[in-house]
Amino acid sequence: MKMIDLRSDTVTLPSEKMLQAIQVAQLGDDVYGDDVTTNELEALAANITGKEAGLFVPTGTMGNLIAVMTHTKPGQEIILEESCHIYLFEVGGIARIAGVQARPIQGSDGKICCEKIQKAMRTENIHFPETGLICLENTHNMAGGTVVPLENMKEIYELGQSIGVPIHLDGARVFNAATHLGVQVKEIAQYVDSMMFCLSKGLGAPIGSMLVGSNTFISQARKYRKMLGGGMRQVGVIAAPGRIAIEEMVERLELDHKNAKKLAEGLNSIKGVSVELSKVHTNIVNVDFSETGLACTDIVESLKKKGILANVRGQQEIRFVTHKDVTTEEISNTIKVIKEMIKAISIQ
Ligand SMILES: Cc1ncc(COP(=O)(O)O)c(C=O)c1O
Repeated sequence: MKMIDLRSDTVTLPSEKMLQAIQVAQLGDDVYGDDVTTNELEALAANITGKEAGLFVPTGTMGNLIAVMTHTKPGQEIILEESCHIYLFEVGGIARIAGVQARPIQGSDGKICCEKIQKAMRTENIHFPETGLICLENTHNMAGGTVVPLENMKEIYELGQSIGVPIHLDGARVFNAATHLGVQVKEIAQYVDSMMFCLSKGLGAPIGSMLVGSNTFISQARKYRKMLGGGMRQVGVIAAPGRIAIEEMVERLELDHKNAKKLAEGLNSIKGVSVELSKVHTNIVNVDFSETGLACTDIVESLKKKGILANVRGQQEIRFVTHKDVTTEEISNTIKVIKEMIKAISIQ
């Protein structure tokens, strides 16, 4: 049975063209700067985001950590949204490795109000750490793939600029954000000093993320990547599919968003199941099953037996993520299976 895997867009498999690109990639030792394929990918990432330089990193987590290390000094404080990926899911690397303290701020759908940031900024005081960085996330994973508006990013960027505090964007799914906003990724990246984006999520590459920023930022980041053991050699074998991800996989994200909307509307029409439709901006759908009286862990287990995979999110919600390896027909099947499952239970 082919599983309908809606756990995450990280499960996407490389396309045939990506696999072919791996075979013919021009390779060299990237630590010597000789891997042409990786150099080209880094230049492409910089160009498409409107930044001076790019750096290929094996994972989004490493890209974010390197960004924090590059922007800050140990002992500083960084401001971030309290349910962001860097704070919740990156194993505390910012504390253990970058040596900074997190200052989490409550957001709303992933957006942090600029005034709250302003209040959290440290002033000069012998007791205080310095504010070294503000981190944003767009789209926001835990909020359900919601898109942080450009005006909010602009306001925060201008605040940062006025007091000399840089802004880093965890843009793991920034191409989804750009698709939703109908803008080029550059228009989002203009409001941050550095940005990480993932090639290996909705864009379908098997491995890799990009970090972009100024020339000075990236040359220091390159050194930290080496320190963390991320200086790779003939890395063109994984950079080659990354190029296809950027050049050919962005346009189709629209379809993932349509599938997510379809899934959200279909599930929301089932008695006892609810989705905040206005929050389904991109490819993530958080679904509240609490009114069914069933435990989410049990629902996920039952779905698995019926060939559908999804992840529990908190006590009451299940997260479904659409991506290139799930068809519209499979989305219809998913709605049908869940409808029948809930109906069967309510009859018992
Ligand atoms: C918003 C966000 N940032 C960063 C990451 C980390 O990416 P990686 O799994 O490549 O380390 C993820 C992964 O899911 C993510 O959702």
